[in-house]
This record gives sequence, structure tokens and C-alpha cells, in this order.
Amino acid sequence: EREDLPEVATPEALLPLLPRRPLTAHKGSVGRVGVLGGFRGEGLRYAGAPVLAALGAYRMGAGLVHLAVPEGTPLEPLEAVFHPVPGPTLPAMRVEALAVGMGGGPWGREWALKALEAQLPTVLDADALHPEVLEAYRRAGVRAVLTPHAGEAGRLLGKSPEEIAQDPLASARALAEATGQAVVLKGNPTVVAEGGRLSVNPTGNPALATGGTGDVLAGAIAALLAAGLAPFEAARLGVYLHGLAGDLLAEEKGVGLLAREVAEALPRAREALA
Ligand code: APR
Ligand code: MG
Repeated sequence: EREDLPEVATPEALLPLLPRRPLTAHKGSVGRVGVLGGFRGEGLRYAGAPVLAALGAYRMGAGLVHLAVPEGTPLEPLEAVFHPVPGPTLPAMRVEALAVGMGGGPWGREWALKALEAQLPTVLDADALHPEVLEAYRRAGVRAVLTPHAGEAGRLLGKSPEEIAQDPLASARALAEATGQAVVLKGNPTVVAEGGRLSVNPTGNPALATGGTGDVLAGAIAALLAAGLAPFEAARLGVYLHGLAGDLLAEEKGVGLLAREVAEALPRAREALA
């Protein structure tokens, strides 16, 4: 069987994908994102995760972000439209793409199954990455971008994180094939796969190994989906700019980044690409 050669993503190839903002743009025309995540167990353990995804979406250029989170979640960022919910559900929201599962814990599976009702392109991250969820999306023909790290990919493929990291290209390809979706296998390097296509991301560095940077990425990719990019393109461009934001920051401050700073650096990464 012939294995397609992976491409290495280049700025030249990605630049044309960057959504342009016409003079007549308004917040309803440039892509609206719904973020569904967090859970309430004994407290709000990962309340920050969906908030970081919302920041990632805004900083990637979303016009409006709706944030469905457990009741009691601290209401930040103030720019988002809040939907505090008693349990995992899909509140009424007018959006073009979703990011689901960040900090979802035991709510992750249910968040994702509820989100499926919207029939929108969806980033499935963290606790939304459940076999039952992936099967339901495949059956419904709803397009998704899966954003596992090696541990999450390993759980889905029945392998150890070490086995996944040993051959990220084969792992990403296998998960894309099994699910029929675009897959972002995070790490160093991050690999994007869909169908027979494989793309290796050249940006990013170990300063990104800090809590919440993956949540920012999920929101950023959702913003690109909402702007109209196809899953594979949104994934490649999002991963590239997220890594570039991390590179710009590492150059300035070295190690010790906060995930929210990676979100804040996304506009500069955009500028650096354009
Ligand atoms: N080099 C380059 N990039 C890296 C490196 C590295 N050495 N280490 C991490 N990164 C990047 C990854 O590629 C990814 O984009 O940082 C991001 C980390 O994402 P996650 O692993 O999802 O981490 P995080 O956002 O903290 O996840 C929060 O959700 O996925 C669950 O189990 C996870 O509890 C955790 C939570
Ligand atoms: Mg994560």
C-alpha cells in the first residue's frame, strides 16, 4: 500500500488560507463560535479550560464567542456571551462552529453528543474525544477536527502514549482513517491528518508545554472553521499560528508562558504570516 508523503506546512502555502476581513465586516459576518466545556463535580476543577478556548477563538478573529459552562463558572472573558448551564446541554446560540470538551471531565461525552444536534463543524478536544462520540459524528456526517495529545490519541487507538509519540505520522493517519475526520495530533512535532493527506507543523516549542495551551488551540481552530475554512485547512493554519505565537513569546520571555499569553500573541502571529 502506498503511503502518501507528508508535507511540511509552509507560510507560502498557508497565507492564502488566512481569512481576510473586508471593510464592511461586522461581528456577525466574520465567524461566530460556540464553546461548550467545563464540568461541576466537587467544585469547578477545570473552569479555566473553556474560557481559554474562548480567548483562543477571539484572538484568532472570531466575531462573537458564546460560552456554555457550568453554573458558577467565573464570568470571564467579559466579551463572551454566557450560557451558564446546570449540566451538559446545547443552549440556543447563533454560531457557525463549535469547540467542545475542554475541561469537560465526566461531562465531556455528553457535551459532545448534545453539540452534535447543531450539525456544525466542531472541534472535539480533551474529554469530548470518546469512541461513542466519534462514532456518532461519523454516522451523522458531521465534520469535526479532533485535537488529541498522545495520551488521548492512545486511548482512542488502544495504544500507550509512548507508542503514539514514537510514530506520530502513522498514529495521526490511523485515527483520521478510523474516524473519517481531520486529526491534529499534538506534540513535537504536531501532525495534521485527513483522508490521505498529512501535514507536519514546523512551528512551536517546549515553552508551550504548560496548562491550557491546548484549550487555546481548540478555540483558535474553531474560529477558522467559523470563518469558513474546511477542517483540514483550519487545522493546519490554526496549529501553525498557535505554534508561531509560542515561538514569538519564547523568543521574548523564554520558558514560563501562560496559555492566555499564547492566545494574546495570536494576532501578532497572524501579522507575522501576512
Ligand atoms: N513542543 C511543541 N509544542 C508543544 C510541546 C513541545 N515540547 N509540548 C506541548 N506543546 C503544545 C502541544 O502541541 C499543544 O498544542 O502545547 C499544547 C498542549 O495541549 P494539551 O496537551 O491539550 O494541554 P492542555 O491544554 O494543558 O490540556 C488541558 O485537557 O487535554 C486535556 O489531559 C489534558 O488535562 C489536560 C487538559
Ligand atoms: Mg488538552
